[in-house]
Amino acid sequence: PDLPVGIHDLSFATSSLVLTHTELSKHTGANVAKYHTGIGQKAMSVPAADEDIVTMAADAAAPVITRHGTGRIRTLLFATETSIDQSKAAGVYLHSLLRLPSAIRVVELKQACYSGTAALQFAAALVARNPEEQVLVLASDIASYDLDSPGEATQGAAAVAMLVSAKPALVELCPATGLHTDDIADFWRPNYRSTAVVDGKKSAAAYLAAVDGAWRDYQARGGLPLEQLRTVCYHQPFTRMAFKAHQQLTNAAGIKSSNKAIESTIAPTTRYNETIGNSYTASLYLALAAVLDGNDTLGEETIGFFSYGSGSVAEFFAGRVVPGYGDRLRTRAHRETIARRRPIDYAAYLKLREHPLPHDGGMHLIPRQTQGNFRLCGISNHQRLYEVVG
Ligand code: CAA
Repeated sequence: PDLPVGIHDLSFATSSLVLTHTELSKHTGANVAKYHTGIGQKAMSVPAADEDIVTMAADAAAPVITRHGTGRIRTLLFATETSIDQSKAAGVYLHSLLRLPSAIRVVELKQACYSGTAALQFAAALVARNPEEQVLVLASDIASYDLDSPGEATQGAAAVAMLVSAKPALVELCPATGLHTDDIADFWRPNYRSTAVVDGKKSAAAYLAAVDGAWRDYQARGGLPLEQLRTVCYHQPFTRMAFKAHQQLTNAAGIKSSNKAIESTIAPTTRYNETIGNSYTASLYLALAAVLDGNDTLGEETIGFFSYGSGSVAEFFAGRVVPGYGDRLRTRAHRETIARRRPIDYAAYLKLREHPLPHDGGMHLIPRQTQGNFRLCGISNHQRLYEVVG
């Protein structure tokens, strides 16, 4: 049989600040149950002034590098829709912060929340071509919507680092995948905007249509029946979306399932996202982290994955959990990175939103605020300046 290829290590990081939905509801006047139950969100990670997709990605990747070294990494794929430059890949900044060797290709990938999955699949193909090589995949995003818009309650921030290799320790990717692309204006961000433009209801409907489309293609290409999947990790723009998606999928698969059964299948996938918020490209892999960290008896079980990026591109695929994975998890570090976030009130959140980096080409230093090991310390001559603080 072909050599198994998949996720050898997985580590995530989030930002240093957190705004709870209880605090947000004091400002919006919404019944907090709309947030906690209606969309399934309790809190959202908010980046400090000196945090961005690069610093979060560095915090996510550093422990992976410490554990495995850099000797076999030949490619770094950085997936994001919060790009900081129209030309230079964010992964090149990361390359220097992590002191990676120069003999590495680095590139950035974009297609809304989907590109982390594109990176994972491309990485698996590179490793299949040369099983000696490893690929470092980063998915890092900050979800930002207009103030006082319906999307604001679904903001969040996180980065996931995955080391893709042959004979992986965590999850072996199954070869069958199902694809679905549809040119649709449900959510997008023109180059001149820092917040997304979104038609919330249309985006949710487009997401569910993509579940059907990707599942149909997955089945046509020899995918596993739904009964053989222990759970399904979904992209989670807000965690309630995963429950709706699984209802859609069970219908598409012709299975009758009660809401209670759907709740118990999906709940283990939402534990991190419900307190971090939407992390776009990272969100699906935070769902995987939540499943693995929450249960160390899943060896040999197969998990489904549904990746959705507005615009839109979607993919359904599956992975087999590798026996012994429990020893390689980073559960304590993941829980600590969430627990250490400093709660802020709405006024502090607003202040952070009101001060974007100046664009005048001058020198602007940013005071230290992050609790992470890497920070954006300033901007000078239009260049972002980073430093290692840990
Ligand atoms: N108690 C319990 N539930 C309550 C409630 C209360 N007091 N008040 C309201 N609710 C429920 C509503 O019934 C509704 O549930 P259902 O959808 O099951 O009917 C839910 O809370 C949300 O209420 P509304 O639909 O009224 O909320 P809204 O219109 O203010 O905002 C949203 C919802 C449109 C999804 C908004 O959050 C949004 O625009 N989000 C951004 C876009 C998004 O996330 N789209 C998802 C698909 S696109 C994608 O996945 C890509 C991506 O990452 C963006």
